[in-house]
Amino acid sequence: MKKITKICCIGAGYVGGPTMSVIAKKCPHIQVTVVDINHDRIAQWNDSNLDNLPIYEPGLKEIVAETRNKNLFFSTEVDKAIDEADVVFISVNTPTKTYGKGKGQAADLKFIELCARNIAKVAKTDKIVVEKSTLPVRTAGAIKNILDNTGNGVNFEILSNPEFLAEGTAIQDLLHADRVLIGGDETPSGQKAKNLLSEVYENWLPKDRILQTNVWSSELSKLVANAFLAQRVSSINSISALCEKTDANVEEVARAIGYDSRIGYKFLNSSVGFGGSCFQKDILNLVYISQSLGLQEVADYWEQVIIMNDYQKRRFADNIISTLYNTVSGKKIIFYGWAFKKDTNDTRESAAIYVADALLEERAELTVYDPQVKEQTVFRDLDYLNTRTPEENKNLVKVVKDPLANIENAHAIAILTEWDEFKTYDWQKIYDKMLKPAFLFDGRRLLDKEKMERIGFNYYRIGQV
Ligand code: NAI
Repeated sequence: MKKITKICCIGAGYVGGPTMSVIAKKCPHIQVTVVDINHDRIAQWNDSNLDNLPIYEPGLKEIVAETRNKNLFFSTEVDKAIDEADVVFISVNTPTKTYGKGKGQAADLKFIELCARNIAKVAKTDKIVVEKSTLPVRTAGAIKNILDNTGNGVNFEILSNPEFLAEGTAIQDLLHADRVLIGGDETPSGQKAKNLLSEVYENWLPKDRILQTNVWSSELSKLVANAFLAQRVSSINSISALCEKTDANVEEVARAIGYDSRIGYKFLNSSVGFGGSCFQKDILNLVYISQSLGLQEVADYWEQVIIMNDYQKRRFADNIISTLYNTVSGKKIIFYGWAFKKDTNDTRESAAIYVADALLEERAELTVYDPQVKEQTVFRDLDYLNTRTPEENKNLVKVVKDPLANIENAHAIAILTEWDEFKTYDWQKIYDKMLKPAFLFDGRRLLDKEKMERIGFNYYRIGQV
């Protein structure tokens, strides 16, 4: 096995794009080619206007500008890139299954399997195949099986190298990773492969932050990391409901417990609920795996994290309805934020979608403003739920490019994403234009309660009466 000089990454999404950009920047001696079957996505990655990249991440376009067409390439020629590479990263999506066995819980591995079959078909030289996607424990075994049985007598080493970046801070997370995890076989060739991949990361990270484990520990650790993070959010959100009934303030409680170094202060922000493409799907996957192994109590324990998250979204929507005198029919409600968190244009599993859906069921008229989310994405998200027809969604929802558009005579504003710019708005001006009493529902605890009440808003926020 020789030193790595050519990398191919299959999947030019939220993980493949930023991760490979950073590898290209930090390893000018390595040629990195990111491939995808989605032609539009690749065209966007190659767009000369860097504002048209398919993914919004602070710092990303600067790195792409620096490396693209030097040692970073985006292409739809999947086979060619696989053929030329020493290492093939698989970074395709692994959504929750929507059919058949494990429907609604298990990870759908069809894209992974297609990649493995493709690599098997194309490869003529030995390769390291890296699972970058988040996969159920023991998937590496299935990939190895496919590669070994349909390959061309080529040697494959399978490594698990899960990605821990968070959207919105992806570039910083990659540049200053807390740790990189590399799992692989404990055979001499497996060890060699782990070391070769480790050398790539050692170009910018200290060696002691690169952890090597067996392949199963690595696969499982990624699911467990997401389950623990989501559990913190659900834990503090459960306490937010208690705070609202007891005059306690969830922020004060979070600070009080966070100062305990055994608990720590990170990830204790109460909100309308977690979203994103990973937490829910990875926990459901953990639940499914536990159930399949006959560990029902383990499955129930982790499933509660999701149940609590659904409760939090529903609670927020119910509070809007009951506060607006138990009817929102025909009322104009403005949504600030649609992305699942700030600094990303990703809306997958965003709490906003579910809160909107609940309000639309009550015939509210919504206006949505998000600094980075396109109109077609909002409608795609709502239509996907299938709660009502696309025409009905079009009639009830308006997506605007200016936060003040359509604010005239609005009954209420709901903040769904914690974009910094919302803090800088002229809230007096907004208040003046709204119908009175003007209601403001802060699902992210973003604004200053006293200030908003001084302006005259009826201000409600999660976790504090
Ligand atoms: P994504 O949906 O943004 O990107 C996946 C890309 O793979 C798509 O562009 C799709 O067209 C492409 N693709 C699918 N099948 C293909 C094939 N056979 N050949 C070529 N391209 C193909 O997904 P994202 O968010 O990048 O996630 C990828 C994986 O990384 C998932 O397993 C996810 O759980 C994991 N992950 C995601 C994180 C995130 O914050 N989004 C963080 C850490 C891990």
